[in-house]
Amino acid sequence: ASGGALPALTVKLCAPRGFCAGVDRAIQIVELALEKYGRPVYVRHEIVHNRFVVDGLKAKGAVFVEELDEIPDADRGRPVIFSAHGVPKAVPEDARLRNMFYLDATCPLVSKVHKEAEIHFRRDREILLIGHAGHPEVIGTMGQLPAGSVTLIETEADARAYRPKSGRQLAFITQTTLSVDDTRSIVDVLKQRFPDIVAPHKEDICYATTNRQEAVKAVAPSVDAMIVVGAPNSSNSQRLREVAERAGCPKAVLLQRAAEIDWTDFDGIGSLGLTAGASAPETLVEEIIAAFAHRFDVTVETVRTADETIAFNLPRELRGTADAPG
Ligand code: F3S
Repeated sequence: ASGGALPALTVKLCAPRGFCAGVDRAIQIVELALEKYGRPVYVRHEIVHNRFVVDGLKAKGAVFVEELDEIPDADRGRPVIFSAHGVPKAVPEDARLRNMFYLDATCPLVSKVHKEAEIHFRRDREILLIGHAGHPEVIGTMGQLPAGSVTLIETEADARAYRPKSGRQLAFITQTTLSVDDTRSIVDVLKQRFPDIVAPHKEDICYATTNRQEAVKAVAPSVDAMIVVGAPNSSNSQRLREVAERAGCPKAVLLQRAAEIDWTDFDGIGSLGLTAGASAPETLVEEIIAAFAHRFDVTVETVRTADETIAFNLPRELRGTADAPG
């Protein structure tokens, strides 16, 4: 390097970005459980889809497992926490059978979808779930009802090809972290084919997903590249990257940490959009900005498209454990 002046770069920071109320609550549940019950506290599945968060909690004494039977017998009495994505009904049932003490960190907005599924089932409706196969939220939502009660619709093509199994009324629910636009197209196909299909009263796609996608749409068309901070297994983060690309951003990448930046992607850019998925902590956004500041003369601008004030209550067992004033 010749030591000349750094090239100018405007970083447009999307707001809202990063942690949603459900992720914030889930992390607090693990932290408060560690404070109240000591270590170890078990967590079934990554509490939220972010390695940095998971490693931080591991260091404090959380032990992550995929299934309850991985918890050693000697630790049966330790608390176990279910992740923000929700779990099939069989999981808390299994925990009760094993006499385990569990805390449920399922996001209340996911629990709301679980309840909708149950209502449709009780009303004898044929239920469609719009979502991505294999995602833990989809596994949890389908697992609220007996196997075979819910049919997964992943694409418009699935919606066009769907053949009702019975003459029963149809109803649909959705995953909370989908692309707002893709979901609208899928729903349009379903409504056109089945005008009487019962839709959610209020969107199943959550406020955080919707707001983060809106902010990306406001920024993506006017920047040379866009970075979404988030994990590859984070559904809402993946959607943010797609939204940026479709909104006309020439280069949109999903990154977990600054160390993953491929600098050839950002050669010669004058503006960069930056956002973070609902499970990505703000320190990782700061880390990315700091990395750019080594190579560019950075000016940060915030583009805010919504204000968020929503917060969720903690489970009863942990209320009053949080920092009390005075
Ligand atoms: Fe809940 Fe939406 Fe976050 S469903 S966990 S508020 S992304």
